[in-house]
Amino acid sequence: MTRKDLLDIESLTREEIEHLLDQAAPFKELFTRSVKKVPALKGKSVLTLFYEPSTRTLSSFEVAAKRLSADVTTFDVPHSSVVKGETVHDTIATLQAMRTDYIIVRNRMPGLPKVIAQATRASVINAGDGAHAHPTQALLDGFTFREVFPETEGKKILIVGDILHSRVARSTSNLMRKLGVEVAWLGPGSLVPKHGPRDIKRFTDYDEAMAWAPDTIYLLRVQMERQDTQYFPSLREYTKLYGVTQERFKRIADQGAYIMHPGPVNRGVELCDDVMEYDRALIDQQVENGIAARMAVLYWLKPGDVLGD
Ligand code: CP
Repeated sequence: MTRKDLLDIESLTREEIEHLLDQAAPFKELFTRSVKKVPALKGKSVLTLFYEPSTRTLSSFEVAAKRLSADVTTFDVPHSSVVKGETVHDTIATLQAMRTDYIIVRNRMPGLPKVIAQATRASVINAGDGAHAHPTQALLDGFTFREVFPETEGKKILIVGDILHSRVARSTSNLMRKLGVEVAWLGPGSLVPKHGPRDIKRFTDYDEAMAWAPDTIYLLRVQMERQDTQYFPSLREYTKLYGVTQERFKRIADQGAYIMHPGPVNRGVELCDDVMEYDRALIDQQVENGIAARMAVLYWLKPGDVLGD
C-alpha cells in the first residue's frame, strides 16, 4: 500500500490515513532520544518549493526530511529566476533534470501540485494550494486528535471561522469525517459554505454551536489575504461574534473541550491570550506532531522510476 504523491485527503482511504497516523507514532518517539535521526531516506533528495509564506509547514518538512537522513534543498523563490519571469513548468523541468526524489510545494493556485506531479517522477507533496487542500496539516491534526481520543468514532469537532477560504478546514474536515468524527462548522453566514458535505452541521451562532457539545474546538485563522470582498463588518465584530473571548473561554473550559489551531494565531482576534496557557490547548502539540506526521508521509510515498509513474 503506497502512493507516489500526496495531493489531498479526498483520495486517501481510511485505511491509508490510519496507516499514516500509526506510522507517525514511532517517529514521534524518536524525538525523546538523544539521536533523533534514522537512515530511512539516506541518499534521497527533498526539495521545498514555497511560493507563499510559511513558518510551520516549511520548517516542519525540513526537520522531518533531515530526521529521515534525506538531503534537503530549500528553493529560495524570492531569489530564483521565478522573479525574472520563469514559469512554474520551466522551474519544474529544471528541478526534474536535477533528479530530485521529493518535491514539497506550496502555491496560491489550486491544483498546481497535481500538475507538477504529472510532470515529474518525483513524489510531490501538497503543502497548501490556495483554498483547496493542505493534507499534511489534516494528518497532523488527526494524529493530535487521536492522541487525546484514541477512539475517534462519534467524537465531535467544531471548526470555527473562515471556512470558505480555508484549505485547512476542507482537508481537516475530510480527514475527521473519514475517521468517524462528527464535524460542524461555525462562522459568519458569508464564510460558511452551504454547499459541500451534507453530514457537516452548519452554525452561525456561537451559543447554539456550544450547545452541540463539541469535544474539540478548532479555530481557524482569519485570512484577510484571501478575501477579495468584505465578508464581515470588521475584525472587532468578528471577535465579538466568533472569537474565544475570556467569557467564551470560561465556558469552553467548563465544558472540558480541547482547543486546536493550525497557526499562525492572530491573538486577540480568534482567541484571547489565556487560551495559549490552557492545559487543553493542543496548539504546541500540533506543531510537534507535524514533524512526525510529515516523516510518516515522506517514508510512505515512493517516487516513480520514470516520468508519470
Ligand atoms: N499551519 C500552517 O500551514 O502554517 P504555516 O503557514 O506557518 O506553514
